[in-house]
Amino acid sequence: MAFSNFLLNLIFITVIIPLFLLPLIFLYIYNQQTKKYHPIGGTVFNMLINFKRLHHYMVDLAAKYKTFRMISPFRGEIYTTDPVIVEYILKTNFQNYGKGTHVHNLLEDFLGDGIFTVDGAKWQEQRKLSSHEFSTKVLRDFSGVTFRKNAVKLGNIFLEAAKSNQVVDINDLFMKATADSIFKVAFGVDLDNLSGSNEEGVRFSRAFDDANELTYNRLVDITWKIKKYFNIGSEAELKKNLKVVDEFVYKVIRTKREQMSKPKDNYLVTKEDILSRFMQMENRDPKYFRDIIMNYVLAGKDPIAATMTWFIYMLCKHPQVQDKVANDIKEAMYIKEEITNVANFEARLSEDALEKMQYLQATLAETIRLYPALPLDLKICFSSDVLPDGCIVKKGDMVAYMPYAMGRMKFIWGDDAHEFKPDRWLDANGCFHSKSPFKFTAFQAGPRTCLGREFAYRQMKIFSSILLGCFAFKLSNANEDPKYRTTINIQLDGPLNIYVSPRSGLHNR
Ligand code: HEM
Repeated sequence: MAFSNFLLNLIFITVIIPLFLLPLIFLYIYNQQTKKYHPIGGTVFNMLINFKRLHHYMVDLAAKYKTFRMISPFRGEIYTTDPVIVEYILKTNFQNYGKGTHVHNLLEDFLGDGIFTVDGAKWQEQRKLSSHEFSTKVLRDFSGVTFRKNAVKLGNIFLEAAKSNQVVDINDLFMKATADSIFKVAFGVDLDNLSGSNEEGVRFSRAFDDANELTYNRLVDITWKIKKYFNIGSEAELKKNLKVVDEFVYKVIRTKREQMSKPKDNYLVTKEDILSRFMQMENRDPKYFRDIIMNYVLAGKDPIAATMTWFIYMLCKHPQVQDKVANDIKEAMYIKEEITNVANFEARLSEDALEKMQYLQATLAETIRLYPALPLDLKICFSSDVLPDGCIVKKGDMVAYMPYAMGRMKFIWGDDAHEFKPDRWLDANGCFHSKSPFKFTAFQAGPRTCLGREFAYRQMKIFSSILLGCFAFKLSNANEDPKYRTTINIQLDGPLNIYVSPRSGLHNR
């Protein structure tokens, strides 16, 4: 019996395995050799080790390989700076790359089923509704008035600081000012973070920022689902913050609905803010509106504050560019005489003048090239595919394009890619020209391109023209080399202290 078992084993090992298994192994090895994969840049553990300087690390890798893989125990991860691949995933084969359930699950508690978390029909419906909203004159006019008011408030804070020779932390001030702007435009609510008069609004604002950061941490915290289940640690913290956020948002929705249902109170609804306009168009449950608004607030606040802070930092580092921007503003506004107060200056700022500020536009674009608010953006592959460079992507793999690394690639921008040169955006006549969205990817591209691009540029141009028209900026510490925080947006880490001095005879409020 023992002998026959031994014989069977021997036959199995010497005949069956070579006959059936070995050809399969050879076939697998042959396939692996003929299939093309992107080179390996490192592992996700290298990314974790380099987390604080993640974008620098990715720039170094991208300088070696346009597209590369990072080995992960969870899924295939491909990172690219190649405009051809970017065009393919964002436009040519757009249907095959999206948020997927992975991103949706990560963001759902915070952003619900808003435009940033969904694909397919849900996304299409919101995109249609929002595209229409962004093209309306009502939104343009209402947001313009709001931006101007907040720019003047900022200007007056700068004026006070200049009088007493105090530094201002512009990082903090831009965060507050852009929060005030988007709240007014999205909800019709005066948050007034800049003066801190609306306590409930300030509490909401803080809870929103904390919830945002805690949600982003889920990307690198593999235990978040367990913590959520037991309601402990960062997940308990997130839940607490979301409670504050939701209470505020649902209260605004409830109040608007009540006012809209009573004809005698209907006039109280401003009808200019995004929430009121959506509520008039659609009859949905409050959660639907909550999700829409949360996504708008996220989109409209931090990216602009972060960009404005880097913008002022770059202008301080390049004083000749700062002077050129200030001249561009004054020439466009035909200001010859002395202006003695910020509100007066704002009143002289016409729509035509804003259009004429081509050098300002170029300087903002150059800042965004080097400091794109969303430095890295990921997509999930829905069904296995071959990218234009012949390499394979499997279903469920992640493909990320990297606006931060792309902005610093010599093969895209030339040998001076790392330098701050606004002139690269201007033609011989000094007119601004945009670049291919597959190379300058800061606003994404294709069907899901940023809906708020013009809205963002408008706010930044209004803020910049009023502030740079009235003040000169200087770093309090000229050797300051600020770092970024590795969060969803490329925010400057900590305060950015600046000395402000009036450019003209400015002395009054
Ligand atoms: C400097 C400012 C901004 C930058 C760099 C920027 C960049 C981007 C990027 C990279 C995306 C794609 C994100 C993704 O993959 O889901 C995006 C999407 C979007 N942005 Fe912006 N954004 C800016 C400002 C704004 C503002 C002010 C708003 C509106 C108030 C806005 C509204 C949106 C919306 C609604 C989407 C979703 C589009 C879709 O999925 O169809 N953005 N933006």
